[in-house]
Amino acid sequence: MGRNTEQSILAIAEAVKADGGDGAASSHWRNDQGLTDHPMVQDPLNFDMRTADSSAFGPLGGISAKAELRHRLVHWLLQIPLRAMGIGLPGFAGADKIAAKIARAQNRAYDKDLLRHTLTLALLQRHLGNALDHGTIAVIGDGFANMSALLLSAHPGAKVILVNLHKSLLFDCVFLRKALPETNICLVQSDAEMADAIAAPDVQCIALAAENASLMGAAPITLGINILSMMEMDPPVIAAYFDLLRRAPADKTAFYCCNRIEKTLPDGTVTRFEAYPWDADDEVLVDAMCHWTRLAYHGRPPFYYLSNPVRHRLAYLKKSET
Ligand SMILES: C[S@@+](CC[C@H](N)C(=O)[O-])C[C@H]1O[C@@H](n2cnc3c(N)ncnc32)[C@H](O)[C@@H]1O
Repeated sequence: MGRNTEQSILAIAEAVKADGGDGAASSHWRNDQGLTDHPMVQDPLNFDMRTADSSAFGPLGGISAKAELRHRLVHWLLQIPLRAMGIGLPGFAGADKIAAKIARAQNRAYDKDLLRHTLTLALLQRHLGNALDHGTIAVIGDGFANMSALLLSAHPGAKVILVNLHKSLLFDCVFLRKALPETNICLVQSDAEMADAIAAPDVQCIALAAENASLMGAAPITLGINILSMMEMDPPVIAAYFDLLRRAPADKTAFYCCNRIEKTLPDGTVTRFEAYPWDADDEVLVDAMCHWTRLAYHGRPPFYYLSNPVRHRLAYLKKSET
């Protein structure tokens, strides 16, 4: 079999050093800032490093590295209205415990970003049930591996394909390794490597650079997930991901898509949720505004605020011929 976790992480760090600009990046994600000297790139196998400062890498989102008891308590109190949204999702309590364990292993607080992924996992469990247990799940544009770590912890029989720009993929893989040291992450860069990694029972996570996203075409993806990420891609890149999911060699492929209803990128490109290439024959299971993504908090009064409107949709995609 190809690379193991450490080799994969080192190879991704090398790609970040070499990366003049990731081919799949929109204007929102292109930056010329050299990342070679960043401690995460210099020393990516130092899993004890507190790497909260990811700002040089672009708008990755963040993790709350302050994890002392008082900080954890403040998060917990401020999260009460968000946790109330988990009432009615039978898997929420279990997912919540798993997320708390992930946060401890990653030496961070169980913050709002992780909590919205916990709520999402519980929603997916409610609608897809056992299908998650042995599924092949493409997490497109994860951040700090929040969704991937939750999925692999709650459904250890699943295989996750983590697709991201090199620089974010580095954070994803390092944070997945921190959360689940036993998980084997394999970076895939060719059709043959993808076929091997799909067939290998000891590969739980396939890491894939966005510029090689077409390699997903050979994977029997049963579920695709994209959260706050397509809204920051150029429309042809969004269309290519939909096409890959529709053509995935699996009987059914569900897609969970949670993105802003509209966003303008730095070069003026506008992305609209409604304009994504949905099909009238997609079988929609959930279609609503996503309240747990919109309701946000910070540490100053009045503590709560609403971010831009975000919609989420879970649908079995109408299949295209492969
Ligand atoms: C705002 S972050 C959101 C992260 C996470 N999903 C969340 O909800 O917190 C957007 C993510 O989309 C990723 N992204 C941007 N362009 C991408 C592309 N072409 N393919 C895959 N991921 C991409 C970024 O690298 C980043 O991880």
